[in-house]
Amino acid sequence: MTTRSTACTYVIFGATGNLSRIKLMPALYQLEAADKLSPDTRILALGRRPWSREQCIGQVREWITEKLKERHDAKVLDALCQKLDYFQGDLEDAEMYDRLREKLRGDQPYPGNTIYYMAISPNGFSRVVDRLGSSGLLTETSGWCRVVIEKPFGYDLASAQLLQRAIGNHLREEQIFRIDHYLGKGTVQNVLVFRFANTLMEPLWNRNYIDHIQITHSETFGVGNRAQFYEETGAMRDMIQSHLLQLLTLVAMEPPVSMEAEALRDEKVKVLKSIRSIPPGEMQTHACRARYGPGVIGNKPVSGYLQEEGVAAESVTETYAALKLYVDNWRWRGVPFYLRTGKRMAAHHSLVSICFRHPPQQFFRGTQVGQVRQNWILLGIQPCECLRMEMTAREPGLEMRTRQTSLDAALVGDTDVHIDAYEELLLDVIDGDRSLFLRFDEVEQAWKVVDPVLRSWADGQDSIHTYPAGSWGPTESQRLFEKEHHRWRHSLDPEPWHR
Ligand code: BG6
Repeated sequence: MTTRSTACTYVIFGATGNLSRIKLMPALYQLEAADKLSPDTRILALGRRPWSREQCIGQVREWITEKLKERHDAKVLDALCQKLDYFQGDLEDAEMYDRLREKLRGDQPYPGNTIYYMAISPNGFSRVVDRLGSSGLLTETSGWCRVVIEKPFGYDLASAQLLQRAIGNHLREEQIFRIDHYLGKGTVQNVLVFRFANTLMEPLWNRNYIDHIQITHSETFGVGNRAQFYEETGAMRDMIQSHLLQLLTLVAMEPPVSMEAEALRDEKVKVLKSIRSIPPGEMQTHACRARYGPGVIGNKPVSGYLQEEGVAAESVTETYAALKLYVDNWRWRGVPFYLRTGKRMAAHHSLVSICFRHPPQQFFRGTQVGQVRQNWILLGIQPCECLRMEMTAREPGLEMRTRQTSLDAALVGDTDVHIDAYEELLLDVIDGDRSLFLRFDEVEQAWKVVDPVLRSWADGQDSIHTYPAGSWGPTESQRLFEKEHHRWRHSLDPEPWHR
């Protein structure tokens, strides 16, 4: 039997925006479909547009049917829409918060347990929390009160600390949910299960056997209508400081004493603290930035970043960023971790690729066997959620020849429910489970890793390269590789994947 969550009020700031359209409303639909929302739960969509409740419902219906197509169920959608209401307001208008209080606590009060979701521009987080606090909307009089803060949390270390101080004036740590939706993805959580629920891997999971690790998130999309956000953010802040560093911590962490939120987060922080800071003189061999130029995606010509609407002609915002990091601890010393992300790349996927060392001796030298290839373990995060181990095996026949073979495990079958990442996290907020949310020290440490690179880029010490849209990024990124045989792994498929 499904356990429904406690009744609450989900107030979504920025409800008419991109995140709400693409992720939040579809995720709430999935929670409704899974019967996880209490019948008394209410969703209050807050935006500047002069919509009526009906207009808002009409819009949400359109977003969900557009995203889920024939996979949506009209009855579920009706049930979700019944929970939905709209509130027009400008975040800058102090009086709006009083009206909001009236709405929430008025004649027909909303459930007292309240979640405020900040699906707004990062520079508004602290102001909105401040206004909510001053209007008494964060006081826990008739239930708990929680605030979900989207990423990036701050612009750099100093601004993240400022933001923390500002929201800390109104909220206790247990009320703050710093979201990184990557942690809600099935395979991302599977990294932990794979490592800590199987004894097979643990003895090999270290510098003695692993040659290097790659973490890639590539997209074929451009910046679309998010140019304003992107111009202030760029690929390093948008993806690496949060999502990819989080993935790195899960791949590299020591086994926690338990899966409790604090135990887990303690181990993640230790990894972040062990990352060697990049010396200013070595930026060129540790970091690379670029932006897409015009190119072709899916046989269609697409424009370059500088030609996108809302992008400044003199912009130096990166749409591609790559880093080489070292985790200086007993387990990982000397193993390069290559991280990269980009928009308008050749394929849309997220992949963790773990490359093992060569066997210490080439026993098959002198036979028909060519050079024995390295083993890889691949963790496909999206679109294919899978685990693949690549090995060398003997080819049938009279000669001693080998070929690559792989053990494959699809982690999500065709008949399994496909959920994105926000579903679980939205539910965790209701349940008050913070294991998959970031603690402030994690955020601080992550900024410490990327800040020196951002500073060097801001000083213009490393020029921004260009890659054609539809390609695998700038060739200059190859200067990051520590060894001659290292190259980007672009795909789950066996070689030749690097072309
Ligand atoms: C978001 C970034 O956090 O993650 C986007 O702001 C990016 O730029 C997105 O496209 C990628 O996540 P997903 O789940 O859509 O692959």
